[in-house]
Amino acid sequence: MLILFVLIVLKHIFVLLSCVPMENKNLELLEEKFQQKIDQDIKIEPNDWMPDNYRQTLIRQISQHAHSEVVGMLPEGNWITRAPNLRRKAVLLAKVQDEAGHGLYLYSAVETLGADREDTIDDLHSGKVKYSSIFNYPTLSWADMGAIGWLVDGAAIMNQVPLCRCSYGPYARAMVRVCKEESFHQRQGFEIMTTLCKGTLEQKAMAQDAFNRFWWPALMMFGPNDAESKHTAQSMKWKIKRSTNDELRQQFIDVTVPQAELLGLTIPDADLKWNESTNHYDFGTINWDEFWQVVNGNGPCNAERIEARTKAKENGLWVRAAAMAHAEKQRERTKQSA
Ligand SMILES: [Fe+2]
Ligand SMILES: [Fe+2]
Repeated sequence: MLILFVLIVLKHIFVLLSCVPMENKNLELLEEKFQQKIDQDIKIEPNDWMPDNYRQTLIRQISQHAHSEVVGMLPEGNWITRAPNLRRKAVLLAKVQDEAGHGLYLYSAVETLGADREDTIDDLHSGKVKYSSIFNYPTLSWADMGAIGWLVDGAAIMNQVPLCRCSYGPYARAMVRVCKEESFHQRQGFEIMTTLCKGTLEQKAMAQDAFNRFWWPALMMFGPNDAESKHTAQSMKWKIKRSTNDELRQQFIDVTVPQAELLGLTIPDADLKWNESTNHYDFGTINWDEFWQVVNGNGPCNAERIEARTKAKENGLWVRAAAMAHAEKQRERTKQSA
């Protein structure tokens, strides 16, 4: 009897030991097949197999993107009631509504990865998940609406156009529409700046002041230098990211400097100059200490932004509860009539 028992135990140990390498082998094969699809530019869809790290990277990136769209409404929402005329008010309102729509597409994209929308929002409120550092700066004058549209939405376009070719299908497809709308946002900002720069001396000074305050934070939007960016290499291999932070930042500077010159604005960077040998602009050192301070919650408006979002969730609770109760009643009615 004892011998039989020992034999059974030994058999189980043998089966267990032989299963581990088999499982590893299967995982390796799945990962290899996955990477082949990526290399062939075949989109990854929600029901396809994907490595857990790929899923987690996308959940982090897309939820941060969604939060940035939603928090990004706050600095501009601040000026809807103070827009200088009805046309400007209508345009700004439409732009802010677009940002809400971008947030909703992106929360839906996060859900396709199996994440819970409410959990990701709670992670924003608890500070576990970040959003774009730029939205922690205050909007002090109407010219800031011009500077934000032109520079912030301009930087967002630089970041997001390559995302239309991202390997994850739902994210890539959401970006196509988002980018079209961002381009409208960038133009409305540039139009505000053009009007101010062609206006009185005070208006021109307002535009320059807004430019001075948003230029450097806009450059920080592309994230840390490539050498400091811990996710870049893997994200490039998975084709989640198509260009590095430094490449995108340089592209943004090269495109934006001539626009600033056209407006007659002075770029607040003494080291900025065209480099004939590289065919790019050289520029001064970014204040990374300020960047990390803002990212880590110590920017001018971090607390205010999170408080506004947390309050919005609390204040909207009764609306969501009423909507759920209504939906439940409708379901019951349909069931009964059936
Ligand atoms: Fe947006
Ligand atoms: Fe935008």
